[in-house]
Amino acid sequence: MARWHLCALAVVESFAPGQQTCQLAYADFRPPCREGMPATFRPGMHHEGRDTMLGFMVEATKDVECCLVAGGRSWEVGFHLAAFVERLRKSNASLARGLYDCMGDPNDSLGEVLYGIFCGPKVCEDFEIAPLAMERLLGNFCNLQLPEPPGNEEVSADELSSWKNVSLDFVVAGNARCGTQSVLNNLYQHPSLDFTSGKSNEDYSLFSQGQMSKFVPTKKLLGTHRASYRGKGHDTQLLGLNNPGIATYPLSYYALYLMKKVKMIVVVCDPLRRLEKLFMYQHYCHENFDEAVRRFDAVPRHLNHRKDCDPSTRALIGVRRMWAKAQAFGPHLEELIKLLGHERLFIVHQASLRKKPGQTYGRMAKWLGATEPFPGGMIFKRYNFRRGHRTDLCKNSTVQNVLKAMLASEYASIQLAIQWQEQTFFQPEALLELRSKQSRCDMSEELVEGPCGLSDDDQSGCPQLDVAGAV
Ligand SMILES: *[C@@H]1O[C@H](CO)[C@@H](O)[C@H](O)[C@H]1NC(C)=O
Ligand SMILES: *[C@@H]1O[C@H](CO)[C@@H](O)[C@H](O)[C@H]1NC(C)=O
Ligand SMILES: *[C@@H]1O[C@H](CO)[C@@H](O)[C@H](O)[C@H]1NC(C)=O
Ligand SMILES: *[C@@H]1O[C@H](CO)[C@@H](O)[C@H](O)[C@H]1NC(C)=O
Repeated sequence: MARWHLCALAVVESFAPGQQTCQLAYADFRPPCREGMPATFRPGMHHEGRDTMLGFMVEATKDVECCLVAGGRSWEVGFHLAAFVERLRKSNASLARGLYDCMGDPNDSLGEVLYGIFCGPKVCEDFEIAPLAMERLLGNFCNLQLPEPPGNEEVSADELSSWKNVSLDFVVAGNARCGTQSVLNNLYQHPSLDFTSGKSNEDYSLFSQGQMSKFVPTKKLLGTHRASYRGKGHDTQLLGLNNPGIATYPLSYYALYLMKKVKMIVVVCDPLRRLEKLFMYQHYCHENFDEAVRRFDAVPRHLNHRKDCDPSTRALIGVRRMWAKAQAFGPHLEELIKLLGHERLFIVHQASLRKKPGQTYGRMAKWLGATEPFPGGMIFKRYNFRRGHRTDLCKNSTVQNVLKAMLASEYASIQLAIQWQEQTFFQPEALLELRSKQSRCDMSEELVEGPCGLSDDDQSGCPQLDVAGAV
């Protein structure tokens, strides 16, 4: 008899074992965590101030951690309000109207998916937790008793994790067009340093569009990222990630800040040099466009939405003036200093890499935590670097001077940053360049055309001019 009973129980459970267990577990599950905090970065929030954006990320992280402590799993639940209301209206119009009133102006929210963070018991899977969580939210928050929970076409769930679960040691975070490729390739030669995507590649698997829209990462994103570098960063090595976009994208560097231990290297350079390189890449009319794309001097046509190009850098003080101003890096630099401090942030100027490569790279590796030096006789090269006239900029000192005045706050921010860095690394060559606003136009050796660095595929690098003598 007892035996038969056990059997029957097993049979009953096998009809929908997961669902039933989850539903029962959820009914008793009341963790002291907030429900419904947004997990997703919505387009309008690009214009929010730093306190709002960082505040949301901190709060979202707290919600995920609260759930973990309560023994649950966190989910980003998406709710297709419009679809649900449409279905509800057919069976109960007054209930549908009540839902409209509760969830805000339907003209604002309808058609969109509403996203929030919810905590569920461990036993619940994605397809189970979403309807239950929305049913509870509408019950508690809107005081509406639904005849049945939303269906699986009306809700979705993605399990969330925490930025703290990223196990990286450091990132080379930017600033693009200032020498990040050189830093990556040279640090890669150090036996104690490895990179998630190897030599010369940028890693977009963590800091990319997917990450950009989340305040906290999904478990899937972290899993995919971890799988992408499987086997790298042994116990004896420090693991780095190279993505020069991080330093100019607040949501990315706030995520990095929340990772707690990850260190950040930021390369800065003469603002005029950087602006010219950005302009050359995005707007300049090259004599031979295909050739320029091959050399990595121009955006490939399929990526470039602009039909027109500018024949002269004079555009930077004319039609491209607003574009030029929008490339400012100073505000990000100031924010990074405030957030990360000397423990986690190392700001290196390109002049230090050019003039004292051995000393500079050695100091950087040591700061990262490498216990041994670079191999003896190591030659530090420059990568992705173009000799000669890149545009017409160096042929017109009027344009140079107007641009230098326009970039005054950039010079000031970078100079402050190098002075801030002085506490742990003194960079006299950089200060000299910054104080006299010296650009590459003032360095005759840079303007000599040469075969070096003329192909994007060329990973052999170029000798440092000062080290190897003028080549
Ligand atoms: C519609 O929903 C409301 C609120 O739950 C309920 O009081 C009412 O009886 C429902 N009407 C119908 C026709 O089911
Ligand atoms: C939504 O928009 C329609 C048409 O623009 C308007 O008639 C209606 O009053 C709006 N609803 C609300 C709640 O603002
Ligand atoms: C972070 O990783 C640990 C260990 O792998 C795991 O136990 C924990 O659940 C993870 N935290 C989150 C929020 O995913
Ligand atoms: C340099 O640029 C200025 C400002 O646009 C212009 O007036 C001048 O003619 C240019 N000089 C040369 C040599 O092209």
